[in-house]
Amino acid sequence: MTARLAVLLSGNGSNLQAILDATASGDLPAKVVTVVADRTDAYGLRRAERAGIRTVVCAPVPGEDRAAYDERLGRIVVRANPDFVVLAGWMRLLSMTFLQRFPGQVVNLHPALPGEYPGTHAIERAFADARAGAVTRTGVMVHLVPDEGIDNGPVLATVEVPILPTDTLESLSERVHAAEHRVLVDTLRTLTKEPADVRRP
Ligand code: GAR
Repeated sequence: MTARLAVLLSGNGSNLQAILDATASGDLPAKVVTVVADRTDAYGLRRAERAGIRTVVCAPVPGEDRAAYDERLGRIVVRANPDFVVLAGWMRLLSMTFLQRFPGQVVNLHPALPGEYPGTHAIERAFADARAGAVTRTGVMVHLVPDEGIDNGPVLATVEVPILPTDTLESLSERVHAAEHRVLVDTLRTLTKEPADVRRP
């Protein structure tokens, strides 16, 4: 059975593109059934439209609290009946209101190694630490999201990315993103092959 993926994003969507390319070439036997963004100007929406995938914008409404937003988002995503919900540059924290609907099914990508640089601007912070002589590498990880921890949860895959003395923020960012595109597709390939009881709590 072909796994159904819902992809949530907030921006450029280069990781969505990696998934779309891999599903189109047969490298990832899965189907992106919906792409949801929290903002209308997320470029990832255009990528999805180009690929003929249904898109939904779930923008926060003024005065709406987190639980109400997550309830609304959850109803949108459930409608697509996904096997996995992939957070590919989704820059909002998800509460249990959303997460409890998808136990063992929410997968997050983060441009840092486990426990390092949670939240936003992870690559920039690693680059600044390298310039200060504190680190010589960063990395990327893919993990499950069982609860409200920020960029934290059972790790599915990690890749180290060295920070070279000659790196600029741009060259480091490019290598981190290239590593992300590979590791996300590889992890989804493995996950979608596993029987559900391996990962469900
Ligand atoms: C990626 O680097 C992803 O790891 C990061 O947002 C970027 C999205 O890029 N996510 C986080 O920082 C989550 N804390 P993309 O829109 O080009 O796929």
